[in-house]
Amino acid sequence: MLSIQVDYNAGIDKIHDFMPEKLKILKFPDPRLRTVAEKVTKFDKSLEKLSDDMLHTMYEGNGIGLAATQVNKHIRLIVMDLSEERNEPRVFINPEYEILDNESLSSFEEGCLSVPGFSEEIIRPDIIDLTWQDLKGEIHKDRPDGLLTICIQHEIDHLEGKLMVDYISPIKRDRIRKKLTK
Ligand code: NI
Repeated sequence: MLSIQVDYNAGIDKIHDFMPEKLKILKFPDPRLRTVAEKVTKFDKSLEKLSDDMLHTMYEGNGIGLAATQVNKHIRLIVMDLSEERNEPRVFINPEYEILDNESLSSFEEGCLSVPGFSEEIIRPDIIDLTWQDLKGEIHKDRPDGLLTICIQHEIDHLEGKLMVDYISPIKRDRIRKKLTK
């Protein structure tokens, strides 16, 4: 059974104690984006500070999600805001998902703050079970729907050193690489 009430904002009430800093986002093809992130084991003030800085950086870049890998911090931390009003920050620590149906797929035009100026249609499974921890280390579970299903897979890919450009043809990928390294 899944819990009825899912509080995506759990644990992030304190993060506005800090003055957030804008962090530098690594851009494809920076090899540091290929780092596999380590599991978070310490739920302390520095984790709250990094989450807050990442949310600030994400909002400044008009993104809907950001993984710690993208700001050169190689821990399993993701921030997200899928709301229209940009007022529902979410933090996912040590997120994991299980694909429940390999044949149920969704296509979505994805963008990425590490691949600025490009968007590509990417097909992903759309029925998943998601588990994560909040900033206090509490475990949460949900079977999400809609954009969260897609976005969380995109962000967890970052934690594995994988990028949306890995899903497209080598020719397209090369064209993007050339444009971004010009
Ligand atoms: Ni991305």
